[in-house]
Amino acid sequence: MPTVDERILQLLREHAPAFLSGEEISQRLKVTRTAVWKRVKHLRTLGYEIKASTRSGYRLIRSPDLLTPSEIKPLLGTKQIGRVIHYFQTIDSTNSKAYQLALGGAKEGELVISESQEKGRGRLGRHWFSPPFLNLYLSVILRPKIPPQQASLITLMAAVATADAIRKFTGLVPLIKWPNDILLRDRKVAGLLNEIHSEMDRIHFIILGIGVNLNVDGKMLPKEVRTLATSLKKEMGQTISRKVFIRLLLQELEGWYTIFLKEGATAILDAWRDRAQIKGRRVKVYSLGETLVGTAVDVDSDGALILETAEGERKRVVAGDVEYKK
Ligand code: BTN
Repeated sequence: MPTVDERILQLLREHAPAFLSGEEISQRLKVTRTAVWKRVKHLRTLGYEIKASTRSGYRLIRSPDLLTPSEIKPLLGTKQIGRVIHYFQTIDSTNSKAYQLALGGAKEGELVISESQEKGRGRLGRHWFSPPFLNLYLSVILRPKIPPQQASLITLMAAVATADAIRKFTGLVPLIKWPNDILLRDRKVAGLLNEIHSEMDRIHFIILGIGVNLNVDGKMLPKEVRTLATSLKKEMGQTISRKVFIRLLLQELEGWYTIFLKEGATAILDAWRDRAQIKGRRVKVYSLGETLVGTAVDVDSDGALILETAEGERKRVVAGDVEYKK
């Protein structure tokens, strides 16, 4: 059910750039004119620029770059992903929330978005820096009918979709770094944390968690990642509209997910290989307390990295971090 605020905004949007009288809004929403005025004052505190005139009523002049359902739903244009949106100003982690919702029966494509995260989670138990109103923190619930062994293909698929959204938005060509970091000019701009709930032969759900640095400034980043991370704003030299970006990202996700369901593993693996360019790279891998050096050969259909050591031995790495050597 849309809130009174959302319904007021919807009416004002439908009438923009014309005025809509307070009387008409109050009749349509079945609330008093004083209540309408109070909500308008509240909306202004959120950054909505609403002109009020005693004679003509209200007129929406500008909306803030918020990710509320009323702001982004009309833009999305997706069929499944984001049809239901769970929106928060702040939350511990969108992944944790999506997981709970999925356990409670949330459907394929339901989306959790937050303007900030108090305990944003990264891979390997790390923290994901999630300051308010600047970046994107979202989690999508998927319920593909595939065996658990294929779950990593969904992770590869999401990395491809995120990389393509960034390429289409910026015109720059990002690189996927195994397993699923997205880099621009060698610095990380987006990360994925995907979690699966399954039994032996069936996936119950997968949570696709995506964080993209859109407007965070280098100075704001924690010291330990300052030289390793970047943002689209930094790379493009201009403020990024989060609404425009989320639209592109969700469309890419839906597009690639459909390709995966229709065409299967090969299409995804080929797209991932093309965007990762990992074959033949000299790499150092930190995996489960062990350091391995060698040449990357490929990634297999389980998303594992295949490495050849100097001794010619092939190793299969399932989790860890990679450093490219010159
Ligand atoms: C990484 O370490 O590269 C993965 C980072 C994933 C961050 C995103 S932000 C939205 C979602 N919720 C989380 O707590 N983490 C993911």
